[in-house]
Amino acid sequence: MTRIAYVNGQYMPHHDAAVHIEDRGYQFADGVYEVFAMHRGLIIGEQGHMDRLEHSLKELRIAWPMSRRVIGVLIREIARRNRVRDGFIYLQITRGVARRDHPFPKDSESSLVLTARRLPPLNKEELRKGVGVITIPDIRWKRHDIKSVALLPNILGMQQAREAGAYEAWMVNDEGMVTEGTLSNAWIVTEDGELVTHNASYAILNGITRLTVLEAAAEAGVEFSERPFSVDEALQAKEAFVTSSTSHVRAVTSIDGKPVGNGHVGELTSRMLNLYVDFIEDKGGPQNTNIWN
Ligand code: PDD
Repeated sequence: MTRIAYVNGQYMPHHDAAVHIEDRGYQFADGVYEVFAMHRGLIIGEQGHMDRLEHSLKELRIAWPMSRRVIGVLIREIARRNRVRDGFIYLQITRGVARRDHPFPKDSESSLVLTARRLPPLNKEELRKGVGVITIPDIRWKRHDIKSVALLPNILGMQQAREAGAYEAWMVNDEGMVTEGTLSNAWIVTEDGELVTHNASYAILNGITRLTVLEAAAEAGVEFSERPFSVDEALQAKEAFVTSSTSHVRAVTSIDGKPVGNGHVGELTSRMLNLYVDFIEDKGGPQNTNIWN
């Protein structure tokens, strides 16, 4: 089957899809993106992704290339044309094509690119197996709430993780606090059994999966705390996991090579995965998506 991409109004074979060399996304990383996970034909947390996209565009003063409603139609169409039921849709909007010049161009039109890719269906057993994370300094700019395509620190961090045989790198700020992973949010269950993830602020990307897990926890009466946690606290934690559209709820069983708890998926982590899957199958995604900071 030929993969199909959408580029500025046209569907075309994925391998032929291209943007102009003076697209500001290519030259300045002047753009934003979203990754919509699909589970059994359902676009998880669509509303949340769209609200976050709106936030990113507004903060960077990039115009919507078309209405939200039309983008909703296009993301369904790209999934359909690529026969994706389980996998993800990638959306990227940039400030468009203009002569290379730092200030915003006066009359560029925003570019829109969509791709879709199949992945194996969500597999709870796989997600419970547990992965390792390493900790690295958070060297990013100060607006992580914006889902910008400028991801150099993230890709360098992820490469470091992979070279260390780890799944993800948790980024640590100057105060010794874990902000988030390079492409996921970070969670621990403390020694005292408290479920903790960093509060929504400029310091993290407020994950749609994170919001889903928080709502699923609230609904099930699982207490949690949204606050920064230190590397020391993480190393003492009983359990840990990461959340993202592509990782869902994935157990973390080692941090910097040291086992978390008994080195196996934790009880609460395992429960949160079940609650998360039930929640998306029931409600589609988080209901309250308007809480940025
Ligand atoms: N990343 N933090 C960062 C830095 C991320 O890049 C992501 C998502 C998340 C989790 O957000 P969500 O739950 O909405 O997927 C947190 C996507 C998957 C990516 O870059 O591929």
